[in-house]
Amino acid sequence: MEKRALGNSGLTVPVVGMGTWSTFDVKGKAAEANAGAVVDRALESGATFFDSSPMYGESERVLGLALDGRRDAALVATKVWTPSVETGREQMRRALEHYDGRVDLYQIHNLVSWRGHLDTLERLRDEGTVAAIGATHYQAPAFEELQAVMRTGRITAIQIPYNPIQREVEDTVLPLAADLDLGVVVMRPFAERGLLRRMPTEAELAPLAAFGVRTWPQALLKWILSDPRCHVAIPATSKPHRMTENAAAGDPPWFGAAEREYVSRLAGR
Ligand SMILES: NC(=O)c1ccc[n+]([C@@H]2O[C@H](COP(=O)([O-])OP(=O)(O)OC[C@H]3O[C@@H](n4cnc5c(N)ncnc54)[C@H](OP(=O)(O)O)[C@@H]3O)[C@@H](O)[C@H]2O)c1
Repeated sequence: MEKRALGNSGLTVPVVGMGTWSTFDVKGKAAEANAGAVVDRALESGATFFDSSPMYGESERVLGLALDGRRDAALVATKVWTPSVETGREQMRRALEHYDGRVDLYQIHNLVSWRGHLDTLERLRDEGTVAAIGATHYQAPAFEELQAVMRTGRITAIQIPYNPIQREVEDTVLPLAADLDLGVVVMRPFAERGLLRRMPTEAELAPLAAFGVRTWPQALLKWILSDPRCHVAIPATSKPHRMTENAAAGDPPWFGAAEREYVSRLAGR
């Protein structure tokens, strides 16, 4: 698994990590054990960066449970998501409980009340319970505001969507992140399954075999990670074996322009 500096955040991340939206919003022994098995596979394969949020229901609790006794092996990213600064503090208190008293990357989810939350997060960073601060958004109309937050100099990482059918960040957000040396976490690598509805055939994937690509999800992850401005992609899965499959895309060699263009064409662009 290749590792990259997450911009100037001070964190070094594996290029493939894991998201938890919907997949870790579960309750009950069997479902929690399954989440634990997904985390087992992630840790075994070096995909040690995990993203969560209070917006994802049970995900912070279930991820915390899965990391019980092995928190040190992981980098945990989570988010604050509420218009209220007071409720935000409460969310942070709870998350810190789930994650053994520290969060590696604390992000402002969808930029909600970012000014107020930044003050609280900076205090936590100064106390040493938060290592780095970031901001996320999933919709292009918000990218102008995201760039304004990036320019404040108060965050060191962003989380944005990027895949062959969602490329709005390419001309604005990614160049600015590179200029400012900010970390880039890539959400929705499979466009929330939209890119998995029609999987290319084995014959169509054959030209990518020399890059270690065996499956279409691996081709999509390599497409993202072959852009050096991206540092970690966070596919979500509820299936332990898929975590191993996704993590395997984190090894070089990386695609050149021709292979990226080929994958874009297979994706229907
Ligand atoms: N505003 C924000 O901050 C924001 C917004 C959106 C997402 N995110 C973050 O980004 C993460 C990733 O985005 P996402 O969960 O929306 O979408 P995604 O990762 O693009 O797609 C997830 C879906 O792909 C399937 N999948 C994963 N690996 C697979 C494989 N190897 N083969 C076949 N299917 C596979 C999973 O189904 P199975 O469970 O059946 O494998 C899951 O339903 C989220 O979990 C969240 O942490 C953040």
